Amino acid sequence: MTIISGSHILLGVTGSIAAYKAADLASRLTQQGAMVDVLLTTGAEKFVTPLTFQSVSGRKAYCDVDLWGGEAHILHVGLGHKADLLVIAPCTANTLAKLAHGQADNLLTITALAMNGLILVAPAMDAGMYEHPATCDNVRILRERGILFAGPGEGRMASGLTGKGRLLEPQEIVGHIRLALGRTGALAGKHLVVTAGGSQEPIDPVRFISNRSSGKQGYALAQAALDAGARVTLVTHPTALQAPVGARLVHVGNAQAMLDAVLDACQQADALVMAAAVADFCVKHVSPQKLKKRDGIPALELTAAPDVLGSVAQSRGSLKNLKVVVGFAAESRDLVENAAAKLASKKLNFIAANDISASDAGFAVDTNRITLIYADGRVVPLPFMGKDEVAQIIIERVAALLE
Ligand code: CTP
Repeated sequence: MTIISGSHILLGVTGSIAAYKAADLASRLTQQGAMVDVLLTTGAEKFVTPLTFQSVSGRKAYCDVDLWGGEAHILHVGLGHKADLLVIAPCTANTLAKLAHGQADNLLTITALAMNGLILVAPAMDAGMYEHPATCDNVRILRERGILFAGPGEGRMASGLTGKGRLLEPQEIVGHIRLALGRTGALAGKHLVVTAGGSQEPIDPVRFISNRSSGKQGYALAQAALDAGARVTLVTHPTALQAPVGARLVHVGNAQAMLDAVLDACQQADALVMAAAVADFCVKHVSPQKLKKRDGIPALELTAAPDVLGSVAQSRGSLKNLKVVVGFAAESRDLVENAAAKLASKKLNFIAANDISASDAGFAVDTNRITLIYADGRVVPLPFMGKDEVAQIIIERVAALLE
């Protein structure tokens, strides 16, 4: 279950070679539980067919010929009134111009005029067209009118030229759709700082001490917060994970850098969710030169790394907006006792205690076994579930505390 499940999305497809990517987009949205109604322009039909979309969405795909059928006079109004979002991907320069000037000469542009909900446009056009003054004016007009934009990206075009005008990849467009659907969520107007991943404590210029954290739980939390309408700063150790669309990413290496970035971001934040597995120990004397084997096995002296949540607890007086702080506890034994002690010492609103002794929970897997422990003493074990679901529950609790 994500913000996409249960939504009703109109997908307008226009005449661009990138129209084939819209089939992937329709498929992703359908798989995530959206009801997807596709509207093809005659230009789009030259590249892809209604059958392509019907096959992935399981629903009739509409073309201009449907405008002149028996239900013609209500089709566009019905679609435009019922849907949560109209996504036009790919959107050509021509359709962009029609939208900017209120022209309505096909099913898609008529529906856009009749649309009650939000409109999200993902432009696709060959090099130079997006930067043309006419297109720039049209984009400005549409932005001023509250139309949302996804891209375009830069890169190689179908013509072989490079420039701005590439359709974003379907996965990124899905991220923009989530942002659009979440705009009025429970965390609209709130700023959340989420931390993710492990940390790297340097030994010398090429070696470091790290841990097994994948960042999956933190990234899922950032996405859940975006889905709920929050502005999100994701402070993360670099990972291979796809950054959630809309999050401001701050990459950090070691615990000290995590501390600096978190304190900085929390100046303006309403809540901090600290999912990162930050180092507890760091190397006392980091070698400026690479340690050489010929010099023998080094004896590394460790010292305490800064405790980020501990420092935040000490700085609460100066972090005026920060109302809610959530921690995680990775425990292999005495889960509740150990986590409750951390909750108290780090002055948290609640802590998500994570049983890492189970092979299906904790580092690198997609599932978690979490018990929520609150400052008022409540202990709430969550059923075994995916990290995405854990994230949604934690973000719901944060929203309730911020209310
Ligand atoms: N944490 C932190 N700074 C650190 C280490 C941990 O802010 N240097 C945060 C983690 O992000 C987590 C919480 O503290 O939200 C608990 O982390 P955990 O590693 O479970 O506990 P520690 O306090 O480090 O204690 P221990 O490792 O001894 O269990």
